[in-house]
Amino acid sequence: MQRVTFSTNARAARPLNIATRRALKVRAATPSSAGKPAATPAKAAASTAATTETAKSNEEQCVGVFCLEYDISNEPSKTAATWKPTIKVAVSGAAGNISNHLLFMLASGEVWGKDQPIALNLLGSERSREALEGVAMELEDSLFPLLREVNIGIDPRSVFEDCDWALLIGAKPRGPGMERGDLLEQNGKIFVEQGKALNEVADKNCKVLVVGNPCNTNTLIAMANAPGLAKENFHALTRLDENRAKCQLALKSGVFYSTVTNVTIWGNHSTTQVPDFVNARINNMPATEVISDREWLENEFAPCVATRGGALIKKWGRSSAASTAVSIADAIKALVTPTEPGDWFSSAVSTDGNPYGIEEGLVFSMPLRSKGDGGWEFVEDVIIDDWLRGKIKASEDELKKERDCVMHLMGMAGGSCELGPEDTTLPGEA
Ligand code: LMR
Repeated sequence: MQRVTFSTNARAARPLNIATRRALKVRAATPSSAGKPAATPAKAAASTAATTETAKSNEEQCVGVFCLEYDISNEPSKTAATWKPTIKVAVSGAAGNISNHLLFMLASGEVWGKDQPIALNLLGSERSREALEGVAMELEDSLFPLLREVNIGIDPRSVFEDCDWALLIGAKPRGPGMERGDLLEQNGKIFVEQGKALNEVADKNCKVLVVGNPCNTNTLIAMANAPGLAKENFHALTRLDENRAKCQLALKSGVFYSTVTNVTIWGNHSTTQVPDFVNARINNMPATEVISDREWLENEFAPCVATRGGALIKKWGRSSAASTAVSIADAIKALVTPTEPGDWFSSAVSTDGNPYGIEEGLVFSMPLRSKGDGGWEFVEDVIIDDWLRGKIKASEDELKKERDCVMHLMGMAGGSCELGPEDTTLPGEA
């Protein structure tokens, strides 16, 4: 593989090795979190090999101003001296609508903190190369002090190298006439490749958050293809559903949404998801006491949350993007800041060892707490009444069916796909 410079404002004008020299210098000035060497052998080899400009490359490429050399100790900002080591964040689907909101939140410091410099590695496709450059240009023009590197590429093996976080947003939408099984198969292949790439090149503590749908099963596939990474490090995004549920409970009870806590989304990010009002609290009182209309809770609130994605598509003509980006930021913050005492958050994680009686070997949204170190633990003290139990079981059955469709993508024998055209279960498909 070869490395080429690929500058947005001076393409082919820079000496080829500037990108590598600059990356070395910045890493030396803001040492990497895990005490990693300044450049990996693979990267060093790539830069040595790349002695001529190449028209095309799958190698990750630095962009514009991010190819220049900086020495943080010479910067006017006094706070730079106290910054933490730079973290490397890989984002797939980086030229898409969700990323167009998310990347700017990440680069601003509002997610990992104002003392946390970051490097963004953006993964796109051959088709989106120009758009990726456009994204990088906007990041340049935003002058974020904490944004120390931006690299773009189309090969996950290059883009995921040494990453501390991988935000897997890119996936194909379901096309007209496409069965859910076909969607699982098509997107599943993407997550086989990305799982393998993470296994080979990512930091071994890398946290992986899958957003591309069907996100629970895509996560399962990526996890199975990355046995070198702990299963606990994989998440599928259900924070968007949690936020939607909080908003609806606040609306019904006439309180501001910040007073709604302890909301769990159980199960699949699909219409079988279970927005849990049984354990939710409003102004620190049980939601079922504040909203005593159980009929509304079961038959209006829960379906409204589960189909909110579809309602938004009808308004916008496309999937939610800004609120999804905000919920990704919330999901990361939930892992890197300690959970408020007594509260919890939802994320879809491995069911292995869960205390709720849910079958192991699935990726299922459940209530979690974090100490703020990137890890999480299950919440033990939740009530599961008959209504919840029945709904959780339906979502579990759906995920078991999805798993059966993709066993071959997980390197496992057996499994047959019994999902048909009637299974239109993404929130956006309702
Ligand atoms: C959402 O919940 O907004 C999306 O997952 C909808 C979809 O189906 O793309």
